[in-house]
Amino acid sequence: MNERARVTDAPPPAPAEAPARALPDAQTVTEVTHWTDRLFSFRVTRPRSLRFRSGEFVMIGLPDERGKPILRAYSIASPSWDEELEFYSIKVPDGPLTSRLQHIRPGDQIILRPKPVGTLVLDALRPGRRLWFLATGTGIAPFASLLRDPETWERFEEVIVMHTCRRVAELEYGRQLIEGLPQDPLIGEMVAGRLRYYPSATQEPFVRGGRITDALASGKVFADLGIPPLDPATDRAMVCGSLAFNLDVKAILEAAGMREGANSDPAEYVVEKAFVG
Ligand code: A2P
Repeated sequence: MNERARVTDAPPPAPAEAPARALPDAQTVTEVTHWTDRLFSFRVTRPRSLRFRSGEFVMIGLPDERGKPILRAYSIASPSWDEELEFYSIKVPDGPLTSRLQHIRPGDQIILRPKPVGTLVLDALRPGRRLWFLATGTGIAPFASLLRDPETWERFEEVIVMHTCRRVAELEYGRQLIEGLPQDPLIGEMVAGRLRYYPSATQEPFVRGGRITDALASGKVFADLGIPPLDPATDRAMVCGSLAFNLDVKAILEAAGMREGANSDPAEYVVEKAFVG
Protein backbone atom coordinates (compact mmCIF):
# COMPACT_ATOMS: atom_id res chain seq x y z
CA MET A 1 0.00 0.00 0.00
CA ASN A 2 1.34 3.44 -0.74
CA GLU A 3 1.00 6.46 1.44
CA ARG A 4 -1.71 7.96 -0.69
CA ALA A 5 -3.92 4.94 -0.30
CA ARG A 6 -3.87 5.37 3.45
CA VAL A 7 -5.11 8.95 3.44
CA THR A 8 -8.55 9.65 2.07
CA ASP A 9 -8.73 13.35 2.82
CA ALA A 10 -5.30 14.60 1.88
CA PRO A 11 -4.66 18.32 2.28
CA PRO A 12 -2.72 20.08 -0.49
CA PRO A 13 1.08 20.10 -0.04
CA ALA A 14 2.46 22.99 2.01
CA PRO A 15 6.06 24.19 2.34
CA ALA A 16 8.33 22.10 4.58
CA GLU A 17 9.31 25.10 6.70
CA ALA A 18 7.46 25.15 9.97
CA PRO A 19 7.37 27.65 12.80
CA ALA A 20 10.12 25.96 14.76
CA ARG A 21 9.17 26.82 18.32
CA ALA A 22 5.48 26.17 17.77
CA LEU A 23 6.00 22.46 17.02
CA PRO A 24 4.99 20.04 19.75
CA ASP A 25 7.52 17.23 20.31
CA ALA A 26 9.96 19.00 17.96
CA GLN A 27 13.30 17.39 17.08
CA THR A 28 16.04 18.89 14.93
CA VAL A 29 17.27 17.28 11.71
CA THR A 30 21.04 16.68 11.82
CA GLU A 31 21.72 14.86 8.55
CA VAL A 32 19.89 13.93 5.32
CA THR A 33 21.07 11.45 2.66
CA HIS A 34 19.27 10.99 -0.65
CA TRP A 35 19.87 7.45 -1.94
CA THR A 36 17.73 7.56 -5.08
CA ASP A 37 14.99 9.82 -6.42
CA ARG A 38 12.58 7.65 -4.38
CA LEU A 39 14.52 6.97 -1.17
CA PHE A 40 16.20 9.03 1.55
CA SER A 41 17.40 8.61 5.11
CA PHE A 42 17.75 11.24 7.82
CA ARG A 43 18.92 11.64 11.37
CA VAL A 44 17.34 13.78 14.08
CA THR A 45 18.10 14.66 17.68
CA ARG A 46 16.81 12.16 20.23
CA PRO A 47 14.42 13.22 22.98
CA ARG A 48 16.14 12.72 26.33
CA SER A 49 13.23 10.72 27.66
CA LEU A 50 12.99 8.34 24.68
CA ARG A 51 13.81 4.71 25.45
CA PHE A 52 13.03 2.10 22.81
CA ARG A 53 13.79 -1.47 21.88
CA SER A 54 15.61 -1.93 18.59
CA GLY A 55 13.03 -2.75 15.89
CA GLU A 56 10.27 -0.49 17.25
CA PHE A 57 8.64 2.45 15.46
CA VAL A 58 7.46 5.93 16.40
CA MET A 59 5.09 8.45 14.81
CA ILE A 60 6.87 11.29 13.04
CA GLY A 61 5.72 14.08 10.79
CA LEU A 62 5.25 17.73 9.97
CA PRO A 63 2.42 20.19 10.57
CA ASP A 64 0.10 20.95 7.66
CA GLU A 65 -0.55 24.51 6.61
CA ARG A 66 -3.11 24.89 9.38
CA GLY A 67 -0.61 23.62 11.96
CA LYS A 68 -2.29 20.21 12.32
CA PRO A 69 0.30 17.41 12.53
CA ILE A 70 0.49 14.92 9.64
CA LEU A 71 2.05 11.87 11.28
CA ARG A 72 3.11 8.46 9.97
CA ALA A 73 4.65 5.39 11.57
CA TYR A 74 8.40 5.13 10.95
CA SER A 75 10.65 2.34 12.15
CA ILE A 76 13.67 3.65 14.01
CA ALA A 77 16.65 2.56 11.90
CA SER A 78 19.29 3.45 14.48
CA PRO A 79 20.15 1.17 17.39
CA SER A 80 18.82 1.83 20.89
CA TRP A 81 22.21 3.03 22.16
CA ASP A 82 22.64 5.75 19.50
CA GLU A 83 22.54 9.41 20.62
CA GLU A 84 20.48 10.35 17.56
CA LEU A 85 17.58 8.70 15.75
CA GLU A 86 17.78 7.57 12.13
CA PHE A 87 14.90 6.96 9.71
CA TYR A 88 14.69 5.59 6.18
CA SER A 89 11.86 6.76 3.95
CA ILE A 90 10.33 6.51 0.54
CA LYS A 91 9.38 9.73 -1.31
CA VAL A 92 5.82 9.65 -2.58
CA PRO A 93 5.48 12.65 -4.97
CA ASP A 94 1.88 13.39 -3.97
CA GLY A 95 2.04 11.86 -0.47
CA PRO A 96 0.76 14.32 2.15
CA LEU A 97 3.81 13.80 4.37
CA THR A 98 6.70 12.48 2.27
CA SER A 99 6.19 15.01 -0.56
CA ARG A 100 7.32 17.59 2.03
CA LEU A 101 9.45 15.50 4.36
CA GLN A 102 11.82 14.74 1.48
CA HIS A 103 12.85 18.43 1.44
CA ILE A 104 14.01 18.59 5.08
CA ARG A 105 17.54 19.82 5.66
CA PRO A 106 19.87 19.88 8.67
CA GLY A 107 18.56 22.46 11.16
CA ASP A 108 14.89 21.93 10.23
CA GLN A 109 12.48 20.58 12.80
CA ILE A 110 10.12 17.63 12.60
CA ILE A 111 7.50 16.29 15.01
CA LEU A 112 8.41 13.07 16.81
CA ARG A 113 6.02 11.49 19.30
CA PRO A 114 8.23 9.74 21.85
CA LYS A 115 6.04 6.63 22.24
CA PRO A 116 7.82 3.67 20.64
CA VAL A 117 5.83 0.51 19.84
CA GLY A 118 6.11 -2.48 17.53
CA THR A 119 6.27 -6.23 17.15
CA LEU A 120 9.73 -6.63 15.59
CA VAL A 121 11.49 -7.03 18.91
CA LEU A 122 13.84 -9.74 20.12
CA ASP A 123 11.66 -10.28 23.20
CA ALA A 124 8.89 -11.69 20.99
CA LEU A 125 11.12 -14.54 19.78
CA ARG A 126 12.03 -17.74 21.59
CA PRO A 127 15.75 -18.42 21.90
CA GLY A 128 17.20 -19.92 18.71
CA ARG A 129 20.39 -20.27 16.68
CA ARG A 130 19.73 -18.55 13.34
CA LEU A 131 17.85 -15.28 12.96
CA TRP A 132 16.41 -14.32 9.55
CA PHE A 133 15.68 -10.69 8.64
CA LEU A 134 13.33 -10.74 5.62
CA ALA A 135 12.63 -7.33 4.06
CA THR A 136 11.46 -5.61 0.91
CA GLY A 137 12.06 -1.94 0.14
CA THR A 138 12.09 0.36 3.18
CA GLY A 139 11.25 -2.66 5.33
CA ILE A 140 15.00 -2.93 5.92
CA ALA A 141 14.78 0.00 8.41
CA PRO A 142 13.98 -1.92 11.62
CA PHE A 143 16.72 -4.40 10.75
CA ALA A 144 19.20 -1.55 10.37
CA SER A 145 18.50 -0.96 14.05
CA LEU A 146 18.57 -4.60 15.15
CA LEU A 147 21.76 -5.37 13.20
CA ARG A 148 23.59 -2.69 15.21
CA ASP A 149 22.29 -3.89 18.56
CA PRO A 150 24.72 -6.11 20.51
CA GLU A 151 21.75 -8.00 21.96
CA THR A 152 20.97 -9.46 18.53
CA TRP A 153 24.46 -10.96 18.40
CA GLU A 154 24.32 -12.13 22.00
CA ARG A 155 21.07 -14.00 21.42
CA PHE A 156 21.81 -15.59 18.02
CA GLU A 157 24.78 -17.39 16.51
CA GLU A 158 24.04 -16.35 12.94
CA VAL A 159 22.00 -13.61 11.24
CA ILE A 160 20.83 -13.93 7.63
CA VAL A 161 19.57 -10.78 5.90
CA MET A 162 17.43 -11.21 2.78
CA HIS A 163 16.51 -7.87 1.19
CA THR A 164 14.73 -7.51 -2.12
CA CYS A 165 14.03 -4.35 -4.08
CA ARG A 166 12.92 -3.69 -7.60
CA ARG A 167 16.14 -1.86 -8.54
CA VAL A 168 19.79 -2.31 -7.58
CA ALA A 169 20.18 1.31 -6.36
CA GLU A 170 17.36 0.71 -3.87
CA LEU A 171 19.53 -1.86 -2.07
CA GLU A 172 22.31 0.65 -1.42
CA TYR A 173 21.27 1.94 2.03
CA GLY A 174 21.15 -1.62 3.36
CA ARG A 175 24.30 -2.70 1.54
CA GLN A 176 26.43 0.12 2.95
CA LEU A 177 25.11 -0.44 6.44
CA ILE A 178 25.66 -4.20 6.36
CA GLU A 179 29.07 -4.06 4.71
CA GLY A 180 30.16 -1.48 7.29
CA LEU A 181 29.20 -3.62 10.30
CA PRO A 182 32.52 -5.49 10.62
CA GLN A 183 34.23 -2.08 11.05
CA ASP A 184 31.74 -0.93 13.68
CA PRO A 185 33.66 -0.20 16.91
CA LEU A 186 30.90 -1.58 19.13
CA ILE A 187 29.78 -4.74 17.35
CA GLY A 188 32.39 -5.30 14.62
CA GLU A 189 34.04 -8.20 16.42
CA MET A 190 30.73 -9.83 17.34
CA VAL A 191 29.58 -9.78 13.72
CA ALA A 192 32.69 -11.37 12.20
CA GLY A 193 31.81 -14.58 10.36
CA ARG A 194 28.23 -14.60 11.67
CA LEU A 195 26.38 -12.39 9.17
CA ARG A 196 25.08 -13.65 5.81
CA TYR A 197 23.77 -10.98 3.41
CA TYR A 198 21.50 -12.10 0.55
CA PRO A 199 20.24 -9.12 -1.48
CA SER A 200 18.31 -9.39 -4.74
CA ALA A 201 16.79 -7.09 -7.35
CA THR A 202 13.66 -8.16 -9.19
CA GLN A 203 13.38 -5.68 -12.04
CA GLU A 204 16.96 -5.05 -13.09
CA PRO A 205 19.97 -7.27 -13.82
CA PHE A 206 21.92 -7.99 -10.62
CA VAL A 207 24.12 -10.79 -9.26
CA ARG A 208 20.91 -12.21 -7.84
CA GLY A 209 17.35 -11.78 -9.10
CA GLY A 210 13.97 -12.99 -7.93
CA ARG A 211 11.75 -12.62 -4.91
CA ILE A 212 12.59 -13.67 -1.34
CA THR A 213 9.51 -15.88 -1.30
CA ASP A 214 10.70 -17.80 -4.37
CA ALA A 215 14.24 -18.22 -2.98
CA LEU A 216 12.79 -19.63 0.27
CA ALA A 217 10.09 -21.81 -1.32
CA SER A 218 12.43 -23.32 -3.92
CA GLY A 219 15.23 -23.85 -1.39
CA LYS A 220 17.61 -21.78 -3.53
CA VAL A 221 18.73 -19.59 -0.64
CA PHE A 222 19.70 -22.62 1.46
CA ALA A 223 21.65 -24.12 -1.44
CA ASP A 224 23.35 -20.78 -2.24
CA LEU A 225 24.41 -20.25 1.38
CA GLY A 226 25.18 -23.92 2.03
CA ILE A 227 22.86 -24.11 5.04
CA PRO A 228 20.05 -26.46 6.10
CA PRO A 229 16.41 -25.48 5.43
CA LEU A 230 14.17 -23.70 7.96
CA ASP A 231 13.80 -25.64 11.18
CA PRO A 232 11.44 -24.43 13.93
CA ALA A 233 13.82 -25.80 16.55
CA THR A 234 16.66 -23.48 15.52
CA ASP A 235 15.37 -20.74 13.18
CA ARG A 236 13.69 -17.46 14.07
CA ALA A 237 12.50 -14.82 11.60
CA MET A 238 11.49 -11.18 11.49
CA VAL A 239 9.52 -9.99 8.46
CA CYS A 240 8.97 -6.41 7.26
CA GLY A 241 7.63 -5.41 3.86
CA SER A 242 4.43 -4.79 1.95
CA LEU A 243 1.23 -6.47 3.07
CA ALA A 244 1.34 -8.98 0.22
CA PHE A 245 4.96 -9.83 0.95
CA ASN A 246 4.27 -10.30 4.66
CA LEU A 247 1.35 -12.64 3.97
CA ASP A 248 3.31 -14.72 1.46
CA VAL A 249 6.31 -15.05 3.81
CA LYS A 250 4.07 -15.94 6.74
CA ALA A 251 2.61 -18.82 4.73
CA ILE A 252 6.11 -20.14 4.02
CA LEU A 253 7.20 -19.84 7.66
CA GLU A 254 4.02 -21.49 8.93
CA ALA A 255 4.47 -24.32 6.43
CA ALA A 256 7.94 -24.82 7.92
CA GLY A 257 6.32 -25.27 11.35
CA MET A 258 7.06 -21.79 12.70
CA ARG A 259 4.47 -19.81 14.71
CA GLU A 260 3.94 -16.07 15.07
CA GLY A 261 5.21 -14.68 18.37
CA ALA A 262 4.31 -11.69 20.52
CA ASN A 263 5.82 -10.01 23.56
CA SER A 264 3.39 -11.84 25.80
CA ASP A 265 3.89 -15.14 23.97
CA PRO A 266 7.30 -15.42 22.26
CA ALA A 267 7.48 -17.87 19.33
CA GLU A 268 9.42 -18.41 16.09
CA TYR A 269 8.67 -15.35 13.93
CA VAL A 270 7.26 -11.81 14.01
CA VAL A 271 5.88 -9.56 11.26
CA GLU A 272 5.34 -5.84 10.71
CA LYS A 273 4.16 -3.91 7.68
CA ALA A 274 6.61 -1.36 6.34
CA PHE A 275 5.36 2.24 6.53
CA VAL A 276 5.10 2.36 2.76
CA GLY A 277 5.76 -0.66 0.63
P1 A2P B 1 8.55 -7.73 -7.88
O1 A2P B 1 9.38 -6.72 -8.61
O2 A2P B 1 8.66 -9.11 -8.45
O3 A2P B 1 7.11 -7.28 -7.69
P2 A2P B 1 7.10 -3.11 -4.09
O4 A2P B 1 7.86 -1.86 -4.44
O5 A2P B 1 6.02 -3.48 -5.05
O6 A2P B 1 6.63 -3.15 -2.66
O7 A2P B 1 8.17 -4.29 -4.20
C1 A2P B 1 9.40 -4.27 -3.53
C2 A2P B 1 10.06 -5.60 -3.76
O8 A2P B 1 9.27 -6.62 -3.13
C3 A2P B 1 10.14 -5.96 -5.24
O9 A2P B 1 11.39 -6.57 -5.46
C4 A2P B 1 8.99 -6.93 -5.40
O10 A2P B 1 9.20 -7.88 -6.41
C5 A2P B 1 8.96 -7.62 -4.07
N1 A2P B 1 7.62 -8.12 -3.74
C6 A2P B 1 6.45 -7.46 -3.86
N2 A2P B 1 5.42 -8.23 -3.45
C7 A2P B 1 5.93 -9.41 -3.09
C8 A2P B 1 5.38 -10.63 -2.58
N3 A2P B 1 4.06 -10.77 -2.40
N4 A2P B 1 6.23 -11.64 -2.31
C9 A2P B 1 7.55 -11.50 -2.50
N5 A2P B 1 8.14 -10.39 -2.97
C10 A2P B 1 7.35 -9.34 -3.27
